[in-house]
Parts: sequence; structure tokens; C-alpha cells
Amino acid sequence: MIHQPSSYQKATQTQPLWIKALAEPGQEFGPIDLRLLSGEVPVGLRGTLYRNGPGRLERGGERVPHWFDGDGAILAVHLMDAGAIGLYRYIQTTGFQAESQSGEYLYSGYGQLAPGPFWQRWGKPTKNTANTSVIALPDKLLALWEGGSPHALDLETLETIGIDNLGALANNQPFSAHPKRAPEAGDIYNFGVTYGKTAKLNLFRCDSTGQIQQVGEVPLPRLSLVHDVCLAGPYLVFFVPPLQLQALPLLLGFRSYSDALQWQPDQGTQIIVVDRQTLQEVSRYDTDPWFQWHFGNGYVDQDGSVVVDYIRYPDFQINQWLAEVPTGHPLASTPGKLWRLRLVPETGKVLENTQQWELDCDFPIGPALQGGTKPNRLYLAADADASWAEKTAEMYNSIACLDFQTGGVSLAQPGLGCYPSEPIYAPDRFTPNQGWILTVVFDGNRDRSTLQIYNAQQLDAGPVAVLELPQIIPISFHGTWRPGN
Ligand SMILES: [Fe+2]
Repeated sequence: MIHQPSSYQKATQTQPLWIKALAEPGQEFGPIDLRLLSGEVPVGLRGTLYRNGPGRLERGGERVPHWFDGDGAILAVHLMDAGAIGLYRYIQTTGFQAESQSGEYLYSGYGQLAPGPFWQRWGKPTKNTANTSVIALPDKLLALWEGGSPHALDLETLETIGIDNLGALANNQPFSAHPKRAPEAGDIYNFGVTYGKTAKLNLFRCDSTGQIQQVGEVPLPRLSLVHDVCLAGPYLVFFVPPLQLQALPLLLGFRSYSDALQWQPDQGTQIIVVDRQTLQEVSRYDTDPWFQWHFGNGYVDQDGSVVVDYIRYPDFQINQWLAEVPTGHPLASTPGKLWRLRLVPETGKVLENTQQWELDCDFPIGPALQGGTKPNRLYLAADADASWAEKTAEMYNSIACLDFQTGGVSLAQPGLGCYPSEPIYAPDRFTPNQGWILTVVFDGNRDRSTLQIYNAQQLDAGPVAVLELPQIIPISFHGTWRPGN
């Protein structure tokens, strides 16, 4: 039994309302018909929304020490002519099953240490929580987690099929949670970080079915954390933050992975540019220090320079904030801002690196995000009310659309005490340039979750449809849209 100090309390008036969406483990449900609360689901929107995130943050009275340690659970909403059907299922990982049976936590994870004396942790596998994101393939859904291999699930029923090595991954080899699809043939690019005496980026090109067709590798400058990759035309771009994993305390079982990551700003951020045809390094370049989880759009501009949008944090305090989320009292101040970096791909040299927008935001996604072509728009989860510095306990309350042609911003604002998830863009099946934004909103005033659908070009007009979900959906991380017929 782990005995972590926990400051978690049941929600009070002084706590933000979002904690009620994480207070209790999410309960599996469905398949069940979803009630339409308002509007109408557009006829051009048929398919399935999938979202992944930590469904439970406690077991046996124990809260996880970091939000990233929660067991992955998937919400699926099938939108059909006959109506909407929702279901919610935990991913049946080996660790989840073992801990369900024993009624207590057994494994180490991102921020978690397995119970018992430290020497008992030597050589023990960490739990693959499968809790970060999803990608929908023609015949299966993959639940992704960057510390290990994906789990395959049934697209319809969310039944767990098991760990999937995509034809080439070694035993639980990392396959990260932010794969990118190329526009031409639907190839999927991804990476996974492995550690030895040095760390390396293992690079993968999969075909559209997810089977790995090509592999490559690029050395990392240090044992760092790399969460996302940017596909920009013929390039894959990585930003390696100035983090240094303290391997010894991790290996000896003294510290969790999260606690073994040390912020070393003197090292700066290293940019690595990879040719996505050969999966070989083109250039690398050291620049000033920052941390980022996510990339927005990336593309090659007319002058041949590569443009990359990303969410920049001044340091790694965001990790502490995320660790504190399960307590309901996150205190560390962590503003993330949208920045744009322009570089010379042949040398990696940074030509420009500037903040683009003043509001705190993250979870950037755009219609062109997967394609690596020049985008017009970018969608984000944003804090449209006040700066994070003044209310560090709050979460994003809006979805924003930034229009790079007009410089305009439109906002979807579900209301005070309501928390939208990452926006997901779904193209209209009849009108190619038209699309819809889907977001799962937790309403802390009514203690309920809804799926809200917005016209992607008119966010400020309010939702075109709101569907009621039968239970509170714990706040999730990432999702995807799978078009239907
Ligand atoms: Fe992410």
C-alpha cells in the first residue's frame, strides 16, 4: 500500500468546480442512446468521436500522485442518421486488471512509485496506463501512451484486444501519443523515446493501416522528455526541452520518472529537423530554453523556411501543476502561450521565435494540422476570462479559433463553471471546406457532461447541438474524429 500525503478534499466553495469531474472514478456505461438537449446534429457530421484520458485517479482510498497516472478510459460517441450512441470503457491493460483485482495500486508509473521498499521496484515494469490519446485505424482503435506500446480496441464496442506491436515494435516499445498523418498517402509518422546510456528518438513511418513500414533513429542530446512531433511539409520537427532525467534515482527506485526529471535551463532547447522520407537527421540547433507539450500547425513557407506553431511554457512548472490536479488545489503558476518559430531546415537556425497571442492556451489543433500545409486557422482550448497567474486553480473555459488571414479570434464560451475539453475538428462530409468542432464540456453547476458541437467557422454563435452524456466524464486529454458513412 502506498502512503502518499494527499491534500485532496471533497469539493468546497473555495475549490474550482472542475474538481467534481475528477472526484470519483468514471463509471463505464453504454452503449446508450444520447439525449439531444438542444439544436440538431448536422447531417454532414456522421462518424465517431473518441476521447481518451485518466478515468480513475484513486484506488483503495489512494489518490494518484500525478494526473498522468490515472488509468486510461475511452469515451466514444457514434453519430448516425438514427441518432447518437455513447459508451465509456476502461482500457483493460495488464496493470489495470491486476490492480482491479487486488484493490490497490501495485505499479510504478509516470509520477507514481510502486509500494514497498525501493529494492522491490528494481527491474519491475511500469504500468502502461494507455491514457493519453487515440488514433483510429481502418480496423481498430489504438489507445496511446508515450511510455509504451499502444493497446488495440474494437472501434465499435471499445473492447480491449490487447497490446499491438504494429508489426515491428519490440516488447512494450514506446510509440508516442501524437502521431501525425501525412496528406498524400495517409502515412502515419510517429516516434518513441528510449533510454540507455544515451537517449534516442526511434522514428516510425506506418502505412494507413498502422503497420510500421520504415524505422529510423536519431540521438537525443540528453535524457529528456519529448511529447509531440510537428509534421511540416517534408520534415519532422522536434523540440528537445532542457530536461535531464536523473537516471540513477529512477533506476534505484528512489524517485518516479516525473520526479527524476530535472529542469536545466542552461542547456537550452535543441531543435532537431528530420527528413520524413529517409527518417534521417537533417539538422539540429541549440536555442533558448522553454518547455512545450504540443505543436500546432507546421508548414514550409514560400521562402523555404519552416514555420512551427507551438505552446510555450517558460519552464517545467506545468508538470508540478499537473501533479497537483488530482488534489483539487493546483498551485504552481504555469502560463502556456501560443508561439511561432521560423527556422532554416538545412541548418536548423532559428530566424524568428515570437509570441502570437496573449491568452493562456494549449491543445492546439487545426484543419491542416495533420497535413503540414499552410493553415488558415488554429483551434485551441483557452482561458478567455483572466490570466492564469491570478487563478492558477482554474482550467480552460473556452475554445478559441485564431484566423491567421484576418487576425480575428472567435470564442466558444460554454459559461462560468463549464470546462471544455480539447477541441476536435471534424470535416463536413458534404462540404469539404466546412467543418465542425466537437468538445466534451463538464458543467460544474449542473454536475453533468455534454458533447457540444459548434460550426467551426462560427464558434461565437454557440453550439449547433448539445448531447447529454449519461454520467460525468472525467476530464480527458486527447481525442480524434473518425468519419463515418
Ligand atoms: Fe499531449
